[in-house]
Amino acid sequence: MKALRLKSFGGPEAFELHDVPKPVPAAGQVLVRVHATSINPLDYQVRRGDYSDLVQLPAITGHDVSGVVEAVGPGVTTFAPGDEVWYTPQIFDGPGSYAEYHVAAEAIIGRKPASLSHLEAASLTLVGGTVWEALVVRAALRVGESILIHGGAGGVGHVAIQVAKAMGARVFTTVREANFEFARSLGADVVIDYRNEDYVDAVLRETGGRGVDVVFDTIGGNTLSRSPDALAQLGRVVSIVDIAEPQNVVQAWGKNASYHFVFTRQNRGKLDELSALVERGQLRPHVGAVYSLADIPLAHTLLETPNNGVRGKIAIAVEPSAHLANADL
Ligand SMILES: NC(=O)c1ccc[n+]([C@@H]2O[C@H](COP(=O)([O-])OP(=O)(O)OC[C@H]3O[C@@H](n4cnc5c(N)ncnc54)[C@H](OP(=O)(O)O)[C@@H]3O)[C@@H](O)[C@H]2O)c1
Repeated sequence: MKALRLKSFGGPEAFELHDVPKPVPAAGQVLVRVHATSINPLDYQVRRGDYSDLVQLPAITGHDVSGVVEAVGPGVTTFAPGDEVWYTPQIFDGPGSYAEYHVAAEAIIGRKPASLSHLEAASLTLVGGTVWEALVVRAALRVGESILIHGGAGGVGHVAIQVAKAMGARVFTTVREANFEFARSLGADVVIDYRNEDYVDAVLRETGGRGVDVVFDTIGGNTLSRSPDALAQLGRVVSIVDIAEPQNVVQAWGKNASYHFVFTRQNRGKLDELSALVERGQLRPHVGAVYSLADIPLAHTLLETPNNGVRGKIAIAVEPSAHLANADL
C-alpha cells in the first residue's frame, strides 16, 4: 500500500511517499481502507519534532480516518467488512492515517454518519472529539449560558460554534472580519474581529459587564491570563493549547474561575454523540480545501501559513473517489 512516511523531523519536504506492507489486523483490531484523512496543527507539530521523544522514525503520522472496513481480526464483533467507519487513531501509539490502509482497536472506532462524505467525516473526528471533551465533559456548558470561542473559523472553532449552539448557549467568537458571515452561518451570535477589537471589551459590552460563562481557548498566547477579565462569576476556561511559558492567572480568584486543560482522547462514545448531532442537522464540518495523499506536504504548508484563507478543515482524499463539492479552495 502507499503511505506517506516522515523520514526525519523538519519541514514538509521531510515526507516521502512509500510502498509499505499492508497491515494485518490482530485480535480485537479492524483493518480499514482509508478513504480520507485531514490535517491538524498536531500533524505539523509532530512533523517538525515538537513531540520527537514520542515519535519513532520513520513514522506514518495523521490523526483522522474515514473509511471502509476491509477485514477484522479474531474476536471483533461490532464491525464487518463493508462497514463505513470513522475514528482518530491512537495518538503517539502506532502508525497514523497518512496511508491507504490503517488498523485500529475496535474500541476506538465509530460508525461514520451516513449523511457525511468521507472527506467531511475525516474532518470531524479529532476536532469533534476535542470539542466534545472541552464543552460537554469539562466546561459542562448549560442551556442559556454564554461562551466565547476563540478562532471560530478554524478547524476546532467552527465545530465548537455548532456544538455550543446545539447545547443551547449564546455564542461569542473571535474571527477576522472576512469570516464574520461564515461564523454567523454556523450559528455565532456575536462575532468579534480579533484584529481590530479587544475581545474582553467586546464581551463586556455585549453582556452588560457580566462576562461569559465559558472561554474556549484555541489560540494560546496570553488567553489563560486574560480570560478572567471576560468571565462571569464561577466561569470556566477550557484550553486546548499547550503553552511553554508560565501564565499568571491571579485574576481568576476574583471570579471563582476554574481552568481545564484538554489533550484529546479517543473513544467511540464521543463519536456516537457527534454522529447524533450530525444526523439531526445540528453539526456539519466545513471542508475548506482538499488535497491528495501525495500532496500532504502542500497541505501542511497551507495550514502553517497564517491568514491562509482556509475556513474549517483541510481534508485529504486518500481514495481518489473520495470527493466533495463544498471545498472553497
Ligand atoms: N489539545 C488538543 O487535544 C487539541 C486538539 C485539536 C487542536 N488543538 C490545538 O488547537 C489549536 C487550533 O487548532 P485548529 O485545528 O482549530 O487550527 P486551525 O484550523 O489552524 O485554526 C486556527 C484558527 O485560529 C485563528 N486565529 C489565529 N490567531 C487568532 C487570534 N489571535 N484570535 C482569534 N483567532 C485566531 C485562525 O484564523 P486566521 O485565519 O484569522 O489567522 C484560524 O482560523 C492548535 O494550536 C492545535 O494544536 C489541540
